Amino acid sequence: MAVLLVTFLAALLCPSVHSGDSSVAWCYHKPTCNFTTWPKIAPHSCSGSRQSPIDIKTKSVQENPKLTLFSFTGFDDNSTFMSIINSGDSVVVYVDDDKMSVQGGDLPGLYNTKQFHLHWGKGSSSPGSEHTVDGKQYPMELHIVNVHSKYNGSLAAALAADDSTGLAVLGFLIEGTNEQNKTKSWDILTSFLKQISTSGQTTSDIMNKITMDSLLEGVDRSKYYRYQGSLTTPNCNEVVIWTVFKDSIKVSQDLINRFNTTTFFKSSVPVLMTNNFRGVQPLNGRVVMSQRSTAPLSAATSIISIITVLLLSCLCWL
Ligand SMILES: *[C@@H]1O[C@H](CO)[C@@H](O)[C@H](O)[C@H]1NC(C)=O
Ligand SMILES: *[C@@H]1O[C@H](CO)[C@@H](O)[C@H](O)[C@H]1NC(C)=O
Ligand SMILES: *[C@@H]1O[C@H](CO)[C@@H](O)[C@H](O)[C@H]1NC(C)=O
Ligand SMILES: *[C@@H]1O[C@H](CO)[C@@H](O)[C@H](O)[C@H]1NC(C)=O
Ligand SMILES: *[C@@H]1O[C@H](CO)[C@@H](O)[C@H](O)[C@H]1NC(C)=O
Ligand SMILES: [Zn+2]
Repeated sequence: MAVLLVTFLAALLCPSVHSGDSSVAWCYHKPTCNFTTWPKIAPHSCSGSRQSPIDIKTKSVQENPKLTLFSFTGFDDNSTFMSIINSGDSVVVYVDDDKMSVQGGDLPGLYNTKQFHLHWGKGSSSPGSEHTVDGKQYPMELHIVNVHSKYNGSLAAALAADDSTGLAVLGFLIEGTNEQNKTKSWDILTSFLKQISTSGQTTSDIMNKITMDSLLEGVDRSKYYRYQGSLTTPNCNEVVIWTVFKDSIKVSQDLINRFNTTTFFKSSVPVLMTNNFRGVQPLNGRVVMSQRSTAPLSAATSIISIITVLLLSCLCWL
């Protein structure tokens, strides 16, 4: 009963990014509703010109000096994860958006962190990331969904506003590793999958056990790609400032294989949840940017520093 109530409340309070409009019957696993059909199922945005995911062609990426460091709040706090749920098309962890937020990195303001979820293929040997880099698809992808603080933590309000900077999603590519003990927190996270094997199941047992930082271990978060795009599920709203980090998270292959063997899609007959990713979309002239790889002292900066030093030394003589 408690579980049902929580599921009901979660559905009510947390309109998932995976169901911008629950009346739209979309899916990953059937020819009648898989992602090739979404432009017909949800034409308003899924057939738009700024869709996600994309293939990042590293040769065409332009460096942008404004893409500086992020500041993450609550990512080191193990009391932020509230529940983990099988949403029917992904595994979603809802977090405490009063405690977690992201700013900096040229984002226009502060963004409250709502949830993170995952996309995968068929285990470590069959890739399922959404973004690809120079055509390479990774085994999995993690999306941390953040909503601009002006929407007071309401994803629905951000979607309704149709604001191209309403959401900031942080994407992390995930790769398999044989180094078992590097990914203790992923072991804990994936240990809850068997409690949420069917659509709608949820548990709060995940509370007070792991931090966001521990799941992102090994990623240099100063190195990333940036572009303007959309939700990767219907209604594909074009409201997302995308950040895709260059480093991948390394997760033990055994743990990656838990995803394609434990949870089931929302479906009238049981179908294991696999390949829950959207294929890459056309860029349509968009430019992918990245942080500046090296930070040479520019001529202007040097001159300003010299003048500052001179001024300071003059002050000393006064
Ligand atoms: C999606 O369905 C179409 C038919 O509508 C089929 O041709 C295609 O192979 C399917 N793609 C995937 C990725 O399932
Ligand atoms: C899950 O992934 C593993 C590793 O890629 C693969 O061997 C296995 O067949 C997959 N199982 C299913 C049901 O997709
Ligand atoms: C957010 O909260 C502020 C202050 O309570 C209020 O003025 C504003 O209208 C709210 N915005 C939305 C989108 O709910
Ligand atoms: C991983 O850690 C456990 C105990 O924490 C240890 O028994 C095991 O040998 C370690 N495995 C590897 C591959 O380091
Ligand atoms: C959670 O964080 C608190 C405070 O930093 C710490 O005392 C506690 O041991 C942590 N719990 C786990 C399971 O890491
Ligand atoms: Zn996603």
